[in-house]
Amino acid sequence: MLRYTVKPDRLAEHLRLLRAVYEELGSTRPDGLRYATFQLEDEVSFVELVTGADLPGPLSRSEAFRRYRADLDARCVERRFDEPSAVGSFGFPDADTDADAGPDPEPPLRVGIIVGSTRPGRHAAAVAEWVAAIAGRREDASFELVDLVDYALPHLDEPLPPLAGEYARSHTQAWAATIDAFDAFVFVTPEYNHSTSGALKNAIDFLFAEWNDKAAGFVSYGVDGGVRAVEHLRQVLGELKVADVHSAVSLTFADDFEGYERFSPGDAQEAGVTGMLDELVAWATALRTVRAPVPG
Ligand SMILES: Cc1cc2nc3c(=O)[nH]c(=O)nc-3n(C[C@H](O)[C@H](O)[C@H](O)COP(=O)(O)O)c2cc1C
Repeated sequence: MLRYTVKPDRLAEHLRLLRAVYEELGSTRPDGLRYATFQLEDEVSFVELVTGADLPGPLSRSEAFRRYRADLDARCVERRFDEPSAVGSFGFPDADTDADAGPDPEPPLRVGIIVGSTRPGRHAAAVAEWVAAIAGRREDASFELVDLVDYALPHLDEPLPPLAGEYARSHTQAWAATIDAFDAFVFVTPEYNHSTSGALKNAIDFLFAEWNDKAAGFVSYGVDGGVRAVEHLRQVLGELKVADVHSAVSLTFADDFEGYERFSPGDAQEAGVTGMLDELVAWATALRTVRAPVPG
């Protein structure tokens, strides 16, 4: 800890140099550096605290800090270093362990696997469980099934459009809380009349901000692999600021459903799921930075 007292006639210059230092650090944001200056009540006395991994490296690389430091001695009437010993601390990170640990680790990515059919006897559940089993072997994200049946959403019944972000109905609030908690989604969709299911489209329509700046991948099934459902979903999700990954998994009744009925995916399909999830995790990781609050 550094304590110093500035000559009153050099105070304005000192504060200007100091502000320039913090402005520069605010834009360069050196990793792990914690540097704070406190001005005491007499206005000419200051206390400085600094912690970091390879001090004084990040500070000595700062142009503004070099200017501030250059004639600090000449600006001061007194300057001395004290080695403080902590008596107690609440709410402050521990300087030593913090420097060792580096920046706080991000929580694991959460991916929702959305079961896109609510029909009795649906195939969607078996397909989604297969995706969840493959995804569950990964360590780069956590994966959870999100079953539309559990949310019992009626046809959209909110008085305000979802863009307003004011949800009046408790079913919407529950659905919004679920979707908000995820970083990315796998939409498991059937093909109904060359599109996705009405139930899935309706569930998507209920929300806005909760989908924004997140990533999506698709697993579809149908006579032609449900590809038209996915094409429609890509269009719809674009309006919701969802980034849809290129690779998608298409399951056909001829090849992936025994007797067109029992789900029995072909051997190559698992690799397809893995490839799609690789892209999804990469994009979901990148999009976290888009959603992160801008430092103020
Ligand atoms: C209303 C409706 C429309 C359908 N339209 C198509 C279609 O356009 N293309 C297709 O490949 N399959 C179509 N199918 C067949 C479905 O893909 C198939 O029944 C599938 O199992 C539905 O998914 P689910 O069982 O998870 O509900 C349609 C089925 C329904 C119920």
